[in-house]
Amino acid sequence: MNISQKNAIITGASSGIGAAFSSAIIEKGGTVYGIARREERLNELKKKLGDRFIPVVLDITDQQKVEQWADVTFSEQHFPDILINNAGLGKFGLIEELSSDDWHNMINVNLNGVFYLTRKIVPLMKANPSHTHIVNIASVAGLMGNPKISGYNATKFGLRGFSEALFKELRFEGIKVSCVFPGSIATEFFERAGSSTHSHMMRPEDVASTVIHLLETPDNFLIDEITMRPLNPKPPEEA
Ligand SMILES: NC(=O)c1ccc[n+]([C@@H]2O[C@H](COP(=O)([O-])OP(=O)(O)OC[C@H]3O[C@@H](n4cnc5c(N)ncnc54)[C@H](OP(=O)(O)O)[C@@H]3O)[C@@H](O)[C@H]2O)c1
Repeated sequence: MNISQKNAIITGASSGIGAAFSSAIIEKGGTVYGIARREERLNELKKKLGDRFIPVVLDITDQQKVEQWADVTFSEQHFPDILINNAGLGKFGLIEELSSDDWHNMINVNLNGVFYLTRKIVPLMKANPSHTHIVNIASVAGLMGNPKISGYNATKFGLRGFSEALFKELRFEGIKVSCVFPGSIATEFFERAGSSTHSHMMRPEDVASTVIHLLETPDNFLIDEITMRPLNPKPPEEA
């Protein structure tokens, strides 16, 4: 895909890797509909990235609002070309300490929100005469379970299954589906998760450049899954 002139929807654009994806797509000449709840963060990003960054203040767990937004924004005269399902959160802790609210919040954002938006965008992608691409941001936690992250594991394993099924369902419609499994990245994620950071995390811009590579592959070439990690992870003295 040539990203120039394409319309991208990025959830979780207000910080972290979502903001980095927005910047990288705009640099390539695309337009970004950046979805998140924090309006001031989105407006700051618009000041930095310019008019091709369109802030969309939306909670992806509100199905009715997600559907209304998709209905008024896109049509067969104005197609979405790229959807990056990136918004997500982790709440970490022993199973008996994980609250029901945190469990439901992870399922709502990391899975239900992805479903609400994707089911509205896929029909428009099917009608789009050009090739289109859905990128789902999972985690290495979608590939292996670990103590104290059972809820987060459940959502990211779920996202992996969703992605694989969709890739097989949509490939003949000219719609690529890729699932990305990053290890630790330096963002606000760990602060929100109630976990600590370390000094060897990946940089958001490097994750973004890999996603740009996925998007720019030739039309009949799909990278369906990709894992990325810090080469030299958390040093033992920080464990
Ligand atoms: N950081 C890591 O080490 C790491 C590793 C692997 C995978 N990931 C995944 O990468 C994705 C992005 O995380 P990040 O590291 O960039 O962390 P982050 O900076 O905390 O970003 C999370 C984004 O999700 C948005 N969001 C959360 N709930 C939302 C909702 N209900 N509706 C709309 N947007 C919502 C947040 O925006 P608002 O608060 O403004 O709504 C924010 O923009 C997540 O799916 C995460 O699981 C992260």
